[in-house]
Amino acid sequence: MTTENPSMDTLLHEERTYPPADSFVAQANVGQADYDEAKADRLDFWARTARDLISWDTDFETVLDWSEAPFAKWFVEGRLNVAYNCLDRHVEAGNGDRVALHFEGEPGDSKSYTYAELTAEVKKAANVLAGLGVKQGDRVAVYLPMVPEAVITMLACARLGAAHSVVFGGFSSDALRSRILDAEARVVVTADGGYRRGKPSGLKPAVDTALSGGDTPVEHVLVVERTGQDVDWVEGRDIRWAEALEGASAEHDCEFFESENPLFVLYTSGTTGKPKGILHTSGGYLTQAAYSMKAVFDLKPETDVYWCTADVGWVTGHTYITYGPLAAGATQVMYEGTPDTPHQGRWWEIVQKYGVSILYTAPTAIRTCMKWGEEIPAEFDLSSLRLLGSVGEPINPEAWTWYRRVIGGDRCPIVDTWWQTETGANMIAPVPGVVSLKPGSSQRAIPGISVKVVDDEGNPVENGQAGYLVIDEPWPAMLRGIFGDPERYKETYWSRFPGKYFAGDGARLDEDGDVWFLGRVDDVMNVSGHRLSTAEIESALVSHDAVAEAAVVGATDETSGQAVVAFVILRGGVTEDENTVEALRAHVGAEIGPIAKPKAVHVVADLPKTRSGKIMRRLLKDAADGKDVGDATTLADSSVMDLISASVKK
Ligand code: WT7
Repeated sequence: MTTENPSMDTLLHEERTYPPADSFVAQANVGQADYDEAKADRLDFWARTARDLISWDTDFETVLDWSEAPFAKWFVEGRLNVAYNCLDRHVEAGNGDRVALHFEGEPGDSKSYTYAELTAEVKKAANVLAGLGVKQGDRVAVYLPMVPEAVITMLACARLGAAHSVVFGGFSSDALRSRILDAEARVVVTADGGYRRGKPSGLKPAVDTALSGGDTPVEHVLVVERTGQDVDWVEGRDIRWAEALEGASAEHDCEFFESENPLFVLYTSGTTGKPKGILHTSGGYLTQAAYSMKAVFDLKPETDVYWCTADVGWVTGHTYITYGPLAAGATQVMYEGTPDTPHQGRWWEIVQKYGVSILYTAPTAIRTCMKWGEEIPAEFDLSSLRLLGSVGEPINPEAWTWYRRVIGGDRCPIVDTWWQTETGANMIAPVPGVVSLKPGSSQRAIPGISVKVVDDEGNPVENGQAGYLVIDEPWPAMLRGIFGDPERYKETYWSRFPGKYFAGDGARLDEDGDVWFLGRVDDVMNVSGHRLSTAEIESALVSHDAVAEAAVVGATDETSGQAVVAFVILRGGVTEDENTVEALRAHVGAEIGPIAKPKAVHVVADLPKTRSGKIMRRLLKDAADGKDVGDATTLADSSVMDLISASVKK
């Protein structure tokens, strides 16, 4: 059934499609022709897109060099500067007075930067970093709250040809330290703190702890003053951002680097305990980032006001706050804080204040707003919105229809974008002027991208069947490897189905061949759209003196999608008391960060194991979900699960 203006009568089994409105189609940036052209000649399509959307100092000749697969090179002879593409060229084109960034601080302060102003700031920051010895081939660690200096620092690194490694401000000093060491960062850019839920949070103390042994390659720490808190100071190492920039020149002629020059490393969790440094490079990444702004978000840089609510600490913030929107010349909003500070209408107040027309957020946030009630957004004027995006996990049809009706006033297309830290940019999403939308499905690969759903043997499944999502052709924004570990790159992504990239997601094709995501098929959890590894949290738990063994699962959670639930066996001689659970939660918070803290910790006498000693997490997940535990016959001791289920129910 198809309807232009559906009401809210079906919720969970939403089967209607929402064709694009004629008025939307008439103004859409991209139509069916892109799908057709990309299908006819994928490489030619990307070559034209790269020349069309990106300014090259030296044009490329080879679109894709796949001779050392799975190590790809895109736009091989081309030379460009990513920061020039995001800044200077817009100023040179006469758009220097356009606002690039409307920053909204959580306490209510705000500041806007035009393209000319942002360019000047980035040039100064580049001069400061260069003065500290940062050059092409180096890494700079960035540990900042959601403030403009985060974007400025990333672009300043790009300008110098150095790679940044942004570490989410919610990660602990231990997590920061291991990322600094792995990436061999020379400089850390941080802040005294940021505002979170009405209070200043600390960041600089975590940097001090991370560097305290004096055994890291870090030579300097640049400190943005955001909250004005007192912080310890290491003379000779620490430098005040404002002072340094004030003394720096706003002139900086950039160099142009090869297309494959590293742009950033971003750590993400995998199936083992050690996070992987995902490496992205310049020309291909920027091309796909810019193309998705045009095709998926239908961005009109002259008139749209775009807002992505992610944190720059995640890949969504990299591609859809820093690089994509600025390469496209967009005006965007950047917000520092939480959606309910000081009130639950804060986001909608921001939409109204800036006239946001494109909003990109995550299902978990939508579900939270649903819980707060639709009378809250109803207090604000949301009529400026014209397109909505979703990312991070499957969006349940209920949340989709609520998002469309309550936030989008039944008129905005919703683009559900599937992608990963590794893919660099949107991969599967409906192009909104072409595709009839289906609530809950990301639908089909964007033009120029090729994906399949395959069975255990790697053969494509029929429509109506489920399997594993693979990407069967290299793509411009693909990761170029795992920093410092080429073997792990091949093993993790390219060995399960030879010649194809294995994403780790289960997916089903419907009768039209549209993709519906079913969640991860590996030991990776998705908590509020953030990727967490069971193994990483388990190793944090067993590093606590009281713990002998631990198993972690992602239990089903109404708001966050999944929630971390831990099962632990205490060491001999340790008995559980009223502090045990809290101490273990705090320990995980200190080892990894507050986002990884288990929602529940169950102290158990035994864990369900197969006869070969493998923990059966599937059974633990059922128990954590309060379900009847499924087939437990392969367990070495089948009574174990009865005890665990009883303890969870208690
Ligand atoms: C994993 C990647 C992409 C930026 C945010 C997360 C899940 C992401 C969707 C979606 C269904 C989704 C997948 C994927 N995921 N977007 N629209 N529908 N699942 O990046 O931390 O690298 O996580 O997030 O499981 O593999 P990430």
